[in-house]
Amino acid sequence: MGTERPEERTSRRDLEWWRNAVVYEVYPRSFADGNGDGIGDLAGLRSRLPYLRDLRVDAVWITPWYSSPQADGGYDVADYRSIDPLFGDLAEAERLIAEAREHGIRTIVDIMPNHVSDRHPWFRAALAAGPGSAERERFWFREGRGPNGDDAPTDWESSFGGSTWTRTTNADGTPGQWYLHLFAPEQPDLNWQNDDVRREHEDVLRFWFDRGAAGVRIDSAGLPVKDPALPDMRGVSGYVPGTHPHLDRDELHDIYRAWRRVADAYDEPRVLVAEVWLAEADRFAAYLRPDEIHTAFNFDFMTAPWDADRLRRVIRETLDTHSAVGAPATWVLSNHDITRPVTRLGRANTAFSFDAKSFGTPTDETLGTRRARAAALLAAALPGVLYLYQGDELGLPEAELPREALTDPMHFRSGGVDPGRDGCRVPLPWTADGRAFGFSSAADDTTASGPHRVRHDTAAAPWLPQPDDWGGLSVAQQLREPHSMLLLHRDALRLRRSEPAFRDDAFRWLEAPSPSVLAFARGDDVICIVNFGTHDLALEQDADILLASAPIVGGVVPPDTTVWLRTACSTAFISTAPIGIPSDGAQPE
Ligand code: NOJ
Ligand code: CA
Repeated sequence: MGTERPEERTSRRDLEWWRNAVVYEVYPRSFADGNGDGIGDLAGLRSRLPYLRDLRVDAVWITPWYSSPQADGGYDVADYRSIDPLFGDLAEAERLIAEAREHGIRTIVDIMPNHVSDRHPWFRAALAAGPGSAERERFWFREGRGPNGDDAPTDWESSFGGSTWTRTTNADGTPGQWYLHLFAPEQPDLNWQNDDVRREHEDVLRFWFDRGAAGVRIDSAGLPVKDPALPDMRGVSGYVPGTHPHLDRDELHDIYRAWRRVADAYDEPRVLVAEVWLAEADRFAAYLRPDEIHTAFNFDFMTAPWDADRLRRVIRETLDTHSAVGAPATWVLSNHDITRPVTRLGRANTAFSFDAKSFGTPTDETLGTRRARAAALLAAALPGVLYLYQGDELGLPEAELPREALTDPMHFRSGGVDPGRDGCRVPLPWTADGRAFGFSSAADDTTASGPHRVRHDTAAAPWLPQPDDWGGLSVAQQLREPHSMLLLHRDALRLRRSEPAFRDDAFRWLEAPSPSVLAFARGDDVICIVNFGTHDLALEQDADILLASAPIVGGVVPPDTTVWLRTACSTAFISTAPIGIPSDGAQPE
């Protein structure tokens, strides 16, 4: 608005921090252990806030820290209003949120509307109250089918494998009703037709927003509403959008509109981030309309293979889809459910799919690391929100863990076929040597601060074993290596903050010299080039190299490399001196 004063503009930009933030995902169990029991916790995280500040992240998304039996890494909540004693307590969570903010870091907490823990008081009450009770109405209890009700009420399959139904046992020991769980049996699904369920979640949002949480990440956001008729899926090959029995039902939008009203009621409006996996771009974008969810994870980008054409298409579609609803795009390379980029990009099949995970997949980690570096700079150069999963800034590979160490229900419910997600959840290495590479000794090395010292010799083993060679990937080690993955990330995030070209959404594709090259401009003077090809790419003009994922010698961009350039006038640069002249096959001079 023409009449707006400069300070008003500044403050509005600050309130819109979520439009181009860098959000770092913390899996607290594996980030840093402050009390030496081998399990990451809030004390450990607090002691490492300076690390996150120096990395220049704008926010942390902390995966569930609430009281939980931990049947699915905390995605089975027994009480949203208390912190699991494994991690600390509520007072410490409040301190953490406040301290993070003092470091310029906002906190996003995780909310799971689809389910709670089977230890949640509501579910215990539902079991105790029996069929037909109001307590059971908060969930999906049904009689079984077939003789004696021995068959599950529907043929639905859980995303963790097996049926989505588990049968209860009556007080007298006879088989009882079944209850629905799209995930593990320890995660009963809630019934969003029930008013208690709606009210309770809005209260939980307020509970955390009142404690300073800047936003919530909405777990499995496309799943909570079910078709009350509970139809079978057998024989149905496709659905009219909005009519699938439990995915992306139209009624979800009302729920999130109500959540948005809760979020908007704060002086600094709180932010909603959705985990929603959907194939149809328009259905996905519908969640991001101005009165619904602010942003959602870009899984098309995350799962795409390392291929220029595919990524060009994904980026183009992402930007189109989001601009249609005025929402910022997000760029996500991995999270706590996904094979680490260094591993995924070092395999023959670089696309990610849950179905394709298997033990012993051949992997070239050197190649994967090279590509992960290039991918990191590609993602960081795109307009919108950047997500970074803990440990990716260190280039940690997916750990191949011994079977006896695995804990993930996804592994067990696949009958041991799926390796599960433990491999991307191994505790971080902070120091080059020492017990657990500093994971359990947050203040015993030069990279930490804070009062939570434990002695190396008394700390318990980390909850998942770290590979023996992870000292070389530790924070302390990488701080000493000028070209480390960690320092590449620090440089990238520093430039993302300081370069005016990265501050708004201005994005323009540039003509690339070969189909295996992506090139685009940000603002007036920054260019990002990614060489996916197998041949070197020569830069013909002397542009300033801002940052590169691999050494650029004599203006040559090698394969699997991203470079950020500054050039005074990107249009002239492209029209008079195209980037990368040699066709594939030609060698630069
Ligand atoms: C998605 C979460 O990211 C994952 O870790 C969890 O197992 C499921 N939702 C169920 O809550
Ligand atoms: Ca601990």
